Amino acid sequence: MGIEIMESEDGTLTLYNNSLGEGYHSKHGALAETHHIFIENGLKKVLPLGYNPLNILEVGYGTALNCLATAHHLSQIKESSDLRYRVNYFAIESTPIDEKVLLSLNHTQLFTPKFKPSAQKIYSAPWNSESLIEREFRLTPLEGDILALPKEIERTLLEREFHLIYFDPFSPKVSPQLWSVQLFRFIFNRMAERALLVTYSSKGEVRRAMERVGLKVERVAGPKGKREITVATKGSFNL
Ligand SMILES: C[S@@+](CC[C@H](N)C(=O)[O-])C[C@H]1O[C@@H](n2cnc3c(N)ncnc32)[C@H](O)[C@@H]1O
Repeated sequence: MGIEIMESEDGTLTLYNNSLGEGYHSKHGALAETHHIFIENGLKKVLPLGYNPLNILEVGYGTALNCLATAHHLSQIKESSDLRYRVNYFAIESTPIDEKVLLSLNHTQLFTPKFKPSAQKIYSAPWNSESLIEREFRLTPLEGDILALPKEIERTLLEREFHLIYFDPFSPKVSPQLWSVQLFRFIFNRMAERALLVTYSSKGEVRRAMERVGLKVERVAGPKGKREITVATKGSFNL
């Protein structure tokens, strides 16, 4: 498959796809990128809406780092307050990474020691079924190509509406078909009345494709090495 391990600038290991010439995370810091884009500009903006449960959909599950960071953030909230957020996390991935490779990335060490059993459960969660990771956190990793989903997976998505989308496939440069009006329309139709999509790309054509399906698009400051990222909302939303 031509995938190798690389170290990013914040010391976090990530994967690099040789055939595409693209990493799974920013070379300027994998954890920093995940935290800034998906936690700060995604999860934290949606939690105040009070959805319970909160349905998250990730496109491009890869190393599961976004899922780890999300579950960890919620477990930290639980430890330090009376707030309880029930979360259903769905993630689509066309090329699942072997658990042994995931473990060799040492991502479980990025979080508190207490979180380790949950991280292990995330890594060993079977594909295409729901796993209970923590009392309030359920994970359903779905194996398939988002552009040609097997019927059963499509049904799983059609049965729900999502409040938060982590849009994290490879870049528009190497995978333009994943940033199309058609795919954004499919996602828009799966989004709840008030919902948010966050992604690392701020390319003009990506923003225009999102706008064409009805999303309201804003550019916000990116993590190190990236001037801007995109936060797109459906329905009335004060960012
Ligand atoms: C930038 S990496 C994702 C990083 C990931 N979120 C993480 O935290 O490791 C892009 C991911 O999208 C997946 N992908 C690429 N094309 C896809 C498709 N058509 N459908 C579903 N997943 C796809 C790749 O296999 C890869 O795992």
